[in-house]
Amino acid sequence: MNVDNFRLQLGGKEYVPIIIGGMGVNISTTELALAAEKLGGIGHISDALITYVCDRILNTNFVSRKRKKYAQYSGNPDKSEVLFDLEEVAEAQKKYIEHTISQKTGKGAIFLNCMEKLTMNSGIETLRVRLRAAMDAGIDGLTLAAGLNLRTLDLIQDHPRFRDVKIGIIISSVRALAIFLKRAVRLERLPDYIIVEGPLAGGHLGFGPEDWKTFDLKTIFTEVISFLKKEQLNIPVIPAGGIFTGTDAVDYLQMGAAGVQVATRFTISKEAGLPSEVKQHYLNAREEDIVVNMASTTGYPMRMLIQSPTLRYAIRPNCEGLGYLLENGGKCTYIDAYYNALAERNPGAPIVVKEKTCLCTGMANYDCWTCGHTTYRLKETTNRLANGKWQLPKAEDIFHDYQFSSDHSIRLPEPETI
Ligand SMILES: Cc1cc2nc3c(=O)[nH]c(=O)nc-3n(C[C@H](O)[C@H](O)[C@H](O)COP(=O)(O)O)c2cc1C
Repeated sequence: MNVDNFRLQLGGKEYVPIIIGGMGVNISTTELALAAEKLGGIGHISDALITYVCDRILNTNFVSRKRKKYAQYSGNPDKSEVLFDLEEVAEAQKKYIEHTISQKTGKGAIFLNCMEKLTMNSGIETLRVRLRAAMDAGIDGLTLAAGLNLRTLDLIQDHPRFRDVKIGIIISSVRALAIFLKRAVRLERLPDYIIVEGPLAGGHLGFGPEDWKTFDLKTIFTEVISFLKKEQLNIPVIPAGGIFTGTDAVDYLQMGAAGVQVATRFTISKEAGLPSEVKQHYLNAREEDIVVNMASTTGYPMRMLIQSPTLRYAIRPNCEGLGYLLENGGKCTYIDAYYNALAERNPGAPIVVKEKTCLCTGMANYDCWTCGHTTYRLKETTNRLANGKWQLPKAEDIFHDYQFSSDHSIRLPEPETI
């Protein structure tokens, strides 16, 4: 029995039941999403730091223009006036999504991971623009993430594609799902799929800073399945977090999952956006190097490699150009931490910022090495080269391993010679 014995049915279409999860910032690249789409699965791009990503890959200059416009606020802890131009956000979003969607060649689909918690100093307005521009640009599906997304559907309910675009929600508890569904039922727009993300996932976790250890994906997944049954709702459920082999995936498919969402295995693929030397850090990681901490300014715990350069940052907040994590009113806990450290510094000594990191800068520079719990097992999935480095597999190799392997075996990529 392997994953290929199953198919994911979504809105009248059929897919290989493998979804590559969204990995911001530009870790799940256009190329990675297209690789899944080409093979009949579903790939995600992410709109985290969208204007920055657009500049980076499409040679626009949104960030430098914003930085210039708000230059007088650098050095000022009050960032309340540092706002995104909504038309520019829409333009960047459309450019990036059209660039990706226009390269589709397969029978799969490309979805957007859209995080509510990315508040951009005007949470509702920027989220509305991001979602609507994505729909205008022809995205196949929207995966609502990082937040309860209570009012998110309201922001797009009058969009012509509201009933045709696929809409999914990522939740980590039945409680969060029930809250989301209440509004969805009222709008007569149930989600097309539900992603149940457990505590072993990469990125931010939907659990408390300590209690994530007390949960496990299988239990939450089973609770969600029985809740939906009780409510007589027939919505595909897709588990995520720690599904490392094709056989792990088959276990869930046999328990009633419609598909699986995976990410960590793909972080080291040639197509993933992390620089090659960072991929080597992921491959060399030991279990004790993978930590969950509260360094993120979002208030959610985040998993990352302890070696992440961002954990040693003491840089001035970069909100004039970036500022994606500013809460409404221009607040960010890194700004507070930085200015406290500045005030407490002994004359001539370096600044030491404790507890928080500038996540915008860290993610933009690939200095925050967020990862899933199973990262320490990545070395089981590829070959060591003669020069001591690890071979980076193609996304297709990893996808096919998930799709066709059995008995917990992992097929290594064809060895490369250097
Ligand atoms: C490097 C990395 C970055 C991630 N970034 C995001 C993100 O920006 N938004 C999100 O909703 N999930 C994010 N995730 C979670 C994945 O989309 C996915 O649901 C989860 O990691 C699957 O578990 P696995 O990594 O054990 O396969 C990220 C995961 C990884 C590994």
